[in-house]
Amino acid sequence: MEGSKTHSSESMPGDLSEALKEATKEVHEQAESTEFMKNFQRGQVSLQEFKMVLTSLYYIYSALEEEIEHNKDHPAYIPVYFPAELHRKTALQEDLEYFYGPLWREEISCPESTQRYVNRLHYVGQHEPELLVAHAYTRYLGDLSGGQVLKKIAQKALHLPSTGEGLEFFTFEGVSNATKFKQLYRSRMNSIEMDPVTKKRVLEEAKRAFLLNIQVFDELQKLVSQCHENGHPAQQKPELRTR
Ligand code: HEM
Repeated sequence: MEGSKTHSSESMPGDLSEALKEATKEVHEQAESTEFMKNFQRGQVSLQEFKMVLTSLYYIYSALEEEIEHNKDHPAYIPVYFPAELHRKTALQEDLEYFYGPLWREEISCPESTQRYVNRLHYVGQHEPELLVAHAYTRYLGDLSGGQVLKKIAQKALHLPSTGEGLEFFTFEGVSNATKFKQLYRSRMNSIEMDPVTKKRVLEEAKRAFLLNIQVFDELQKLVSQCHENGHPAQQKPELRTR
């Protein structure tokens, strides 16, 4: 799928991109098989659930992109700084406005596990910026991969317009070929100067990023189940609605 091994931008064993893929293989499988993701893949996603996941993503990307902007001149981040192609905060704001209306900011709040992820992103951005690439990799390469399948599933399950409204998060206007862009991104990651100890820390941080995502999904699943138990399948928990 990724082309011939002779291509000059192809990654080599030992490269950061290969190491990240290998190190996160197991947690990726774990993330794919969370109850929330399994249901999503089967097309079992309600409008309320979709709104909840977009809300969590909005808090996550706001924190991630705030820290990316702080660190855009850091040598360990410069090569993978692609705001026009990748950044999702504005897209998420548009989606939230589509689903919640113009007062969306007052309608949403940040669930606990999402807040823990947000806190980690700020900590890394402010104290260990050399690890920020692990967080960018985990989210952006994921969005450019499985995210495209999830977009189609959501569009069908929620009967969203084919014009893309409500699905801006999944739409990368600045990326015409996701496979080629992922190749470029990998080669840029591989160009970051990194000693072996830092590289190991980046791999650990990527695993941590996946686990933070899993905790976000597990909490959303729990909130959804509680709503169903309370006999309000289409209702969000009150504490999610108000600040
Ligand atoms: C890559 C599917 C969830 C992060 C991929 C690929 C697929 C995929 C098909 C492409 C593999 C390749 O081209 O070699 C899915 C599905 C998911 C899911 C179906 C859930 C239903 C997630 C989650 C995350 C994630 C929750 C992290 C938050 C990634 C990353 C890559 C990736 C970082 C790039 C791996 C690499 O090339 O280094 N995913 N994924 N995925 N996914 Fe997922």
